Amino acid sequence: MTSDIDFASIRAQFPILDQTIHGHPLVYLDSAATAQKPQTVIDAESDFYRTINAGVHRGAHELAARSTQAFEEARAKVAALVGADAREGHEEIVVTAGATAGLNLLATAFGNASLGRGGEAAKRFALRPGDEIVVSKAEHHSVLLPFQELAARTGATLKWFDLTKDGRIRSDTADEVITERAKVVAVTHVGNTTGAVTDIAPIVSRAHEVGAVMVLDACQSVPHMPIDFHALDVDFAAWSAHKMYGPTGVGFLYGRRELLEALPPASFGGSMVELAWMDRPAQYMDPPAKFEAGTQPVAQVVAAGVAADWMRSIGMENIAAHERTITDELLRLGDVEGVRVLGPAENRDRIGTVAFDVAGVHPHDVGQFLDSLGFAIRVGHHCAQPVHRHFGLFASNRASSGVYNTPEEARQLVEAVRKVRPFFLRG
Ligand SMILES: Cc1ncc(COP(=O)(O)O)c(C=O)c1O
Repeated sequence: MTSDIDFASIRAQFPILDQTIHGHPLVYLDSAATAQKPQTVIDAESDFYRTINAGVHRGAHELAARSTQAFEEARAKVAALVGADAREGHEEIVVTAGATAGLNLLATAFGNASLGRGGEAAKRFALRPGDEIVVSKAEHHSVLLPFQELAARTGATLKWFDLTKDGRIRSDTADEVITERAKVVAVTHVGNTTGAVTDIAPIVSRAHEVGAVMVLDACQSVPHMPIDFHALDVDFAAWSAHKMYGPTGVGFLYGRRELLEALPPASFGGSMVELAWMDRPAQYMDPPAKFEAGTQPVAQVVAAGVAADWMRSIGMENIAAHERTITDELLRLGDVEGVRVLGPAENRDRIGTVAFDVAGVHPHDVGQFLDSLGFAIRVGHHCAQPVHRHFGLFASNRASSGVYNTPEEARQLVEAVRKVRPFFLRG
């Protein structure tokens, strides 16, 4: 139930929303691209620079100790949001530069294991010709391309799940698509174009049955619904802080502890090594440090921790329920003459990311028309070309909700979209 939550006061915490665009109140419906930031997150980043900025995990001075503590506390806050372990020596959250970086980290590390790096423990990640990597046609390019490259580098074969007519991943085909040769399965939890929540249980259980590593792209699920990676039983999951009301330039990779210990590192440098010599291989630190070479985006991680706590303080169930009321309204786009929703038409197992096509009007024209009325939506292929091809398109329009949106804003969008075809196709 959302009744006891004051979503108007939550919205009021986002200073950017209080402005006009081309003379109209801003209606921000592009949270799938990036979410806006509440004041508390904005403050956390600048407070860090004003009070405790220092390098973490090194230096004997007090500021270094305080920044290290804030950094590790942020890791624990993020872990709490997704049901991961944060106990010292058992950490399951790795700091990355974003979902794309996290997925590339995995693909690179699996590639390194395929070259024999990481010893005996890393053999479970090694790929060779004849092995299979399974993705889906619904993937963002940041899943498709790293794993396509990994296949090319190792000689493994890339396979993929097909989609239902309304763009859901065909989980019901898991037993056929994931064969005994599968070594890696990587799929999206929520489609960034369709908004569809993947039924991952059959995929996870089949992946584990054949001994494959199960990777989840959680970019579009973590901001919108309760998540517990242990309960989902995935091996790895990647997402970005900027889509969960946190800063840009930072993201997280969840990994089951035992797998993080076995996985070889993907990038190399300072702060990830116990011992380094000229004439012998280095001895790497335990995870998560092993995967966090170089100076980390500490202020951003600290602010992302604040974002995670902020979301938990509202309650992910409450956020999901509130956004469902917006999704109800956005789905009315499908009732507008000449408009087709790309993705599930029913508000079930989906989020408030609703892509649509306006017959006869190019998405860029739609986007500009809506922008002139104050609406911010995304147009293009949303870095997901195969799913657009599935719908017979190259590009689309996409409205996507966040916790700050109101059903009224979604209704206004639908009314504005109603004017698009008469405007462009008149005469
Ligand atoms: C489903 C999905 N996966 C991955 C990404 C990549 O995220 P980032 O660009 O923050 O690395 C996005 C971002 O649009 C996404 O929506």
